[in-house]
Amino acid sequence: MPSRYRAIFFVSLLLVTIVVGGCADPRPIKQLPAPTPIGRLVEPTPTLVPALAAVMGEGEEGTSTAEVPAVAPAQLPDAGAGQQIFVQNCAACHGEDGKGIVQGTPDYTDPEYVRNVIPAVLFEVITKGKGAMPAWEGTLDEQQRWDVLFYELDFGIKEEDLAKGQDIYTQNCAVCHGEDGKGIVQGSPDFTSPEFWVKASMADRFEVITKGKGAMPAWEGTLSEEDRWAVLSYIRTFGYKSVHQP
Ligand code: HEC
Ligand code: HEC
Repeated sequence: MPSRYRAIFFVSLLLVTIVVGGCADPRPIKQLPAPTPIGRLVEPTPTLVPALAAVMGEGEEGTSTAEVPAVAPAQLPDAGAGQQIFVQNCAACHGEDGKGIVQGTPDYTDPEYVRNVIPAVLFEVITKGKGAMPAWEGTLDEQQRWDVLFYELDFGIKEEDLAKGQDIYTQNCAVCHGEDGKGIVQGSPDFTSPEFWVKASMADRFEVITKGKGAMPAWEGTLSEEDRWAVLSYIRTFGYKSVHQP
């Protein structure tokens, strides 16, 4: 419809919402939630609760990993192998394009989603099921469950980001982390360990790249936000086989 009518339509919709909202039965005072303590004013949105609760923890360092299941792949997850499994078992509900068909399924092509989830948490959902999501432990072995999960998480990764990330890595990071990602400088993590990647979200790792930590320099002044995500997408592929690897 022409934009003028569309505008009128939305304004009317807004008015109806306000009027109806205003007439709704007000909640009794007693049921009002307790005041939020300062520092926790931003509550996690319900759909992200498991991941966010684990990321945010309850304050001090160390507690944040407490809610992450202690599971890790025995070998590198292979997204290419996961593709077969996905098409056969998961696409009916999650969509061949990963955008989700059945209500409640996430959009795997949304970078925000992929950046904020903790793979170990999602692995548990695949293993045990959740709501309308079936359990797969009786049907798929552990490695197959990791492979299919990394295929799902691969939807939002772009081949050009991996290529660009590799250049950035060679120029800025390899001196301490090694061309092979295993780490040279003392204290640098082993990027080829899948466990390193499944127990935290990409957003957690991004934070350290941005702000630095100990002997790890901060990169916010040197690399753009886009470049920091590109290099992170690249170093993550030390820990799994992406279908987008150039
Ligand atoms: C019958 C439909 C259906 C099938 C088949 C299915 N899923 Fe799901 N899946 C769902 C629904 C619905 C949810 C949302 C569950 C919830 O949050 O209550 C979900 C959630 C998930 C989640 C967690 C998402 C999150 O952010 O918490 C993962 C991971 C997942 N599915 C992977 C798979 C994999 C891998 C397969 C195939 C091996 C598969 N699913 C097959 C319906 C399905
Ligand atoms: C001067 C050496 C040095 C350089 C250069 C360097 N790093 Fe690091 N990096 C480290 C050290 C040391 C650690 C371990 C920090 C710690 O845990 O105390 C680390 C940790 C990390 C981590 C793990 C973060 C976490 O969550 O624990 C990531 C990811 C990372 N570096 C990425 C990069 C990237 C990307 C670059 C290049 C843009 C880079 N590093 C450049 C030394 C370096």
